[in-house]
Amino acid sequence: MEGENIFILFLEVYFLFVSCILLLGSSLYATLPPMSSLLLHGALLVSGGVESREDVLVEDGIVKEIAKYIEEYDEEMDLTGKVLLPGLIDCHVHFREPGLEHKATMATESASAIAGGVTTVCEMPNTIPPTVTVSALADKVRRADALEETRNKIQETNVDMRFFFGITQNIHLATLIELFESSADESRRLRARIAGVKIYLDHSTGDQKIEDALLDDVFAMCAKHHITLVAHCEDPEENAKAAAQNTRTNIAAHSLIRPATSEVIAIEKAIALAKKHGTHFHVAHLSTEGGVDLVRKAKAEGLHITCEVAPHHLFLTTDDYERLGTLAKMNPPLRSHKHRLALWAGIADKTVDCISTDHAPHTLEEKNNAEPLKAPSGVPGVETMLPLLLSVALGHWPHPTEKISCPTLTFRDIVRLCFENPNRIFHLGKHDIEKGQRADIVIIDPNVEWTIEGKNLHSKCGWTSFEGWKVKGKVVRVIR
Ligand code: DOR
Ligand code: ZN
Repeated sequence: MEGENIFILFLEVYFLFVSCILLLGSSLYATLPPMSSLLLHGALLVSGGVESREDVLVEDGIVKEIAKYIEEYDEEMDLTGKVLLPGLIDCHVHFREPGLEHKATMATESASAIAGGVTTVCEMPNTIPPTVTVSALADKVRRADALEETRNKIQETNVDMRFFFGITQNIHLATLIELFESSADESRRLRARIAGVKIYLDHSTGDQKIEDALLDDVFAMCAKHHITLVAHCEDPEENAKAAAQNTRTNIAAHSLIRPATSEVIAIEKAIALAKKHGTHFHVAHLSTEGGVDLVRKAKAEGLHITCEVAPHHLFLTTDDYERLGTLAKMNPPLRSHKHRLALWAGIADKTVDCISTDHAPHTLEEKNNAEPLKAPSGVPGVETMLPLLLSVALGHWPHPTEKISCPTLTFRDIVRLCFENPNRIFHLGKHDIEKGQRADIVIIDPNVEWTIEGKNLHSKCGWTSFEGWKVKGKVVRVIR
């Protein structure tokens, strides 16, 4: 009898202990209990194009007040020395669901996003099935909504997921036109979740290269319906030519068989089409000096051209292949130092509009292909983007072996590149940290120095190209 009691007591203590651990772990990314008000006191608020030292009161998920002194509240967080940013937007992610759940799922990757201070993502169409039909889009929306509901139930923060519609054949274009011309409620509901149209000018993961003959019609349709058209810009002929000349099998050859000229040719062609049709055209993961020059010139000409760059192209170069092998394989590939410098110069003069991750998890097993050029292209990044950028903003170049002078970047630049511009470009309807709006706030501690380790990140893939990097600035909590 006594033994049984002790056992029950042991069980009770054990469950209490486990519950405490779970509560502690989830509190970082938990939503507030309804109707209690939380005062965020003493932090530097970076929002709406300015930095100010003001308190923010959040009640029932809404920003109730922003002022120097707020006296009435239920709970207070002393955030002296901390920084508040609006929840970041990553306008280029691959969450792999449905069809590729062995690599990643919406649940795992959105947890990774939240831990990286990203609360809105625009997800790419190269899943199985691809997002090229209304039913595939509706299925993704249903999955994202179900996940949101589950998370709300356990008061966990969720990510706002928007989706790109892909087009590879005429039938996909016809479907999209129908969806945009329909006045049915269901069509309206689905349209609201579309961030834009995504096309691939050459094959990449998922083999979604668009038929050439369709290009004119896609640019015209997007112009007519005010849809932002995003393209993966690599030229198939230039890539094929380079591949035919290549005899090497090592990983560095990946940058030779998808050369910089290929990106430049593809961007030039796409900008000409955007000009012809008056389309808002957005260059995905810009990686070359020539590409930055073309976008700069197009903007000067008054064309509606925007672009994004990815952290891997901003922080890595072809020199990193030796250390990383296939963990540095992606499309477009890593480039030399001169290209990386040009990307940072594009950020400095505002030619570059967005930084987005092209978060593309693959399993380690897939990456460890004995033939490196056959390993899948793509690297995760949604959780490491903000710490890498914060490091630069805090004057610390985080690369483990390079000693270069740190580019100039401010907290306001990060908010412009990872919130304001993607919000505008993809018509996402997000708000700054603003009285009366839904709270969507990331609390950063700029004083924490930590080491990136794949095993501690939340992506299902469990690895990172930035393993062992010492970074400055950590997400303390996300409030939504
Ligand atoms: O590196 C890449 N990975 N580039 C792409 O275009 C696709 C992505 C993926 O889905 O893995
Ligand atoms: Zn991508």
